[in-house]
Parts: sequence; structure tokens; C-alpha cells
Amino acid sequence: MNKSKSLVQLIEVPKIFDDCSLIFAQAKKHIPFEIRRVFWIADADTGLPRGFHAHKTNRQILFCLRGSIQIIVDNGKIREEVVLDKPNVGIFFNNMIWHEMLKFQKNTVLLVLNSHPYDPKDYIRKYQQFLKLVNK
Ligand code: TYD
Repeated sequence: MNKSKSLVQLIEVPKIFDDCSLIFAQAKKHIPFEIRRVFWIADADTGLPRGFHAHKTNRQILFCLRGSIQIIVDNGKIREEVVLDKPNVGIFFNNMIWHEMLKFQKNTVLLVLNSHPYDPKDYIRKYQQFLKLVNK
């Protein structure tokens, strides 16, 4: 379910309460792409910001399964920020959206669903190059 029309696109997936929190997401139903790759991040240095790139093609949904982080999203014209701290609320990064992850709380665990396999050539790591590509 898309909860917002701003640059920050949050996706809430079902969370079932029983004797634990059971959270699930299904491609096409909750996730707007076929999931071709998953990676996760744990034991991140709390003082070290991450991300600082955009993808030419790959689309992603990032869930903060534990802890919290601040996320910046930027389309070259607008920059918005949001705190991600609920395991069933992810943020959608469309392709060509610059994103930064800051303020990792200790023990934060992130799960990232991806529309494409890993390809280092898909990364735009220089902000000035990103601006040129989105504003042309
Ligand atoms: P990278 O995406 O550059 O991480 P960061 O921007 O946070 O430093 O990935 C770091 C290394 O992990 C790089 O050598 C490639 C490898 N990697 C994969 O092989 N597959 C993946 O899905 C990811 C995310 C990284």
C-alpha cells in the first residue's frame, strides 16, 4: 500500500500479530516489481552514512527490520527526508532517485529488495553526474 504521494514513497506490508510479529511481502501484490535480488545490512557503523548513489535501472524497497535510520531521497529538484523505524513499513527507491542513509541506530538491520541483479555499472555515485542526467 503506497501511503504517500510525495518523493518519500512508503510501502506498508501486512503485519500479523500472534505470538510474534509476522511480516510478509509478495512481488506484484505488495512490491511493485519482481524481486530478483535481496541483500541485507547489519553491524553498520552508527557514525558512517551510507548510500549516496542512484541506480540507472534498479528499483529497491528498503525495510528497517530493527533499529532506525534517517533516509534522504532526492530527485535532482526536491530533497526529502524520513525516519524509517517500523519493520513493516519500507521505502521505495525508484530508479534515478538519489538516496542517502544516515543516523544508523545501534543494531539496525536493513533488508533491501531489488528489481535487478547486481551490476556495478548501474550505480551513479557522483551527485553532479546524477544532476546532469536527471535534469537533461
Ligand atoms: P556496494 O553496493 O558498493 O556497497 P556500499 O555502496 O554500501 O559500499 O557493495 C559493496 C560490495 O558488495 C561490492 O564489492 C559488490 C558487493 N555486492 C554484491 O556482490 N552484490 C550485491 O547485491 C551488493 C549490494 C553488493
